[in-house]
Amino acid sequence: MSKQVILTGLRANNDLHIGNYFGALKPIIDMAHKHAGDYQVNLFIPDLHSFTTPIDHGLLKQQINHIARLYIAAGLPVDNPDVYLYRQSYISAHSELTWILDCFTGMGQLTRMTQFKDKSANVGADNITAGLFNYPVLMAADILLYNATYIPVGDDQTQHLEFTRDIAQRLNAKFDKELLTVPHEVKTQHELFGKDQGLRIKDLQDPSKKMSKSDETGKGVIFLNDDPEVARKKIMSATTDSLSKVSYDPKNQPGISNLIDILALLEDSTPQLVAERYAGQTMYGEFKKETADKVADFLATFQKQLALVDDNKVMNTLEKSEESMRIVANETLLRVQQAVGLR
Ligand code: TRP
Repeated sequence: MSKQVILTGLRANNDLHIGNYFGALKPIIDMAHKHAGDYQVNLFIPDLHSFTTPIDHGLLKQQINHIARLYIAAGLPVDNPDVYLYRQSYISAHSELTWILDCFTGMGQLTRMTQFKDKSANVGADNITAGLFNYPVLMAADILLYNATYIPVGDDQTQHLEFTRDIAQRLNAKFDKELLTVPHEVKTQHELFGKDQGLRIKDLQDPSKKMSKSDETGKGVIFLNDDPEVARKKIMSATTDSLSKVSYDPKNQPGISNLIDILALLEDSTPQLVAERYAGQTMYGEFKKETADKVADFLATFQKQLALVDDNKVMNTLEKSEESMRIVANETLLRVQQAVGLR
């Protein structure tokens, strides 16, 4: 029997920050190290999903390549024969299967998706694209084409995963019970990956919200391409409190706890162990300075690794994966085309 497939996508977006790194990129890479061999690991760049809301199209191509370089710089084992890294739009079966799945999807079902509701709130109807509405159907195609059973995603995506299971089950019931592989339910996914998939780093200025690239001042966010000295200053001026103790208490000391989380991630340690080291200290200066130094070191090292990534290797990796994955995707597409009477 062939290996079960773990599949996930990371959106192209030029200015990734340390929240994306520790919340998404690094967990995906750790997962690949841990599970490739026992599983096949499919990672892809959902470039067709990139403009369901408006973007600067002049930058997209460069951003797609950049994400691939980031994966490699961050240590994705691309030479492992069980790891694939590919671009969605280079495998046309994604678009073709989406259309077919569209015709078996109720408008009501898509209207109820919380991500659609959130993203379309406060936007005039003519400015909400059909692409945004259709987003979950393309995502279902991304998953079903490769018979993937494990899909590590954040909580904001579990509804889309349930939708994928639903459409696969309905098509199987209607046409042939072997037509599509139904991904495992969310509970089973949590058993493999742990429930807490990716920690959410908070904004440095306003630790009640998560770190997000849409922060206009940029002061609360540390981007992977920030100058290490600039990042150091951002940490030193992060919001804290006047409780005068370095303790891990996200509810009462959200700013300090966020910095503890960041330091623990950088050291591959736990928030509790970091807090213990500073037990009894009543000033935040030393703790902030250590965090700032480690963030600056991390960025300097990461940026050096990124500069060393060989663009030819990136291109070869993508093209080789796309060649193999196109075969699998086209097999699934053909099965569905036959089932619905197109072939
Ligand atoms: N929607 C996902 C996100 O925003 C990205 C994505 C697209 C994806 N297609 C996917 C994730 C298929 C997992 C499987 O994060």
